[in-house]
Amino acid sequence: MVVTPSPDAVGASPAASGHAHPAASVQFGQYRPARRTILHLSDTHLLAANRPLGGRYDTAANLERTLEAVERLAIRPDALVFTGDLTDLGEPDAYTALKAAVEPVAERLGAPVVWVAGNHDERPALRRDLLGLSATEEPLTGVWDLDGLRLVALDTSVPGWHHGDLDAAQLDWLRGILSTPAPLGTILALHHPPLPSHVPFFDILELRDQRRLADVIAGADVRAILAGHLHYSTSGTFAGIPVSVAAATCYTMNLTRPAVEVNGMDAGQSFHLVHVYDDTITHAVVPVLDAPTGDYFSAEWVERMSRLTPEERLEAFSRKPGR
Ligand SMILES: [Fe+2]
Ligand SMILES: [Fe+2]
Repeated sequence: MVVTPSPDAVGASPAASGHAHPAASVQFGQYRPARRTILHLSDTHLLAANRPLGGRYDTAANLERTLEAVERLAIRPDALVFTGDLTDLGEPDAYTALKAAVEPVAERLGAPVVWVAGNHDERPALRRDLLGLSATEEPLTGVWDLDGLRLVALDTSVPGWHHGDLDAAQLDWLRGILSTPAPLGTILALHHPPLPSHVPFFDILELRDQRRLADVIAGADVRAILAGHLHYSTSGTFAGIPVSVAAATCYTMNLTRPAVEVNGMDAGQSFHLVHVYDDTITHAVVPVLDAPTGDYFSAEWVERMSRLTPEERLEAFSRKPGR
């Protein structure tokens, strides 16, 4: 039996969707501003008492740096989506720590948090210590209505294993949800991406039997699939639908190595800024780092441009001098 635990998280998005800063919603090009904005984070892998992951990574500190970067965006997102491996070993105290780190940020942003289960999670502790639900092995699924954009969380975790799967009951549940289209379409969030990986060990831990998922979403209103698990950003298509994999907040895979030697490194952490436009969805990779950054563009610059006609803007900013 599949449950839908999170209907109370519905409808928390602000009216000025995704844009706390007025200059961020101007339109200088062909596309109208994004209708919805989602922050896609993944693979926090927290451990109880913040033990270093693999003896190497301070996962709590790396999450904190990521959340600080999220707040520096100064936007009001419609949701924060964490695509699984929320903890490394499924320890109750790790879920408590995750909740304490993320919930105040989400509250300040006025956005619901969508928690997705991964292979490193343990459903009973995730349900009890993160969500306040009963500690069972029921798959963790949910549906959010982000002012017309439907977000569906699936649970690809398999108790006792690290590979992914979706059982018949969950696929039937999804089929039922998708039988009615949503005004702005649907985004699926799951942990194991329905994509190949060039890194051999990830193919052992893939989402199995992907054809069954393809059959369920064929012809439905799914516009994007958000996933994690790989600890590196990648994208592809599955059954014609764009799939976007966010790297991890804890550590990422050093892809400068040959595929058979790919291992983790304490660098390259990032999250995705997902913009839902009328006709397309973009997934911008946001690196989490401190680097010297210019200050040429600003709210004042945008304001100045917005006072010009489109032709004047081209002259002011597109014209190459001396040509
Ligand atoms: Fe992971
Ligand atoms: Fe994973």
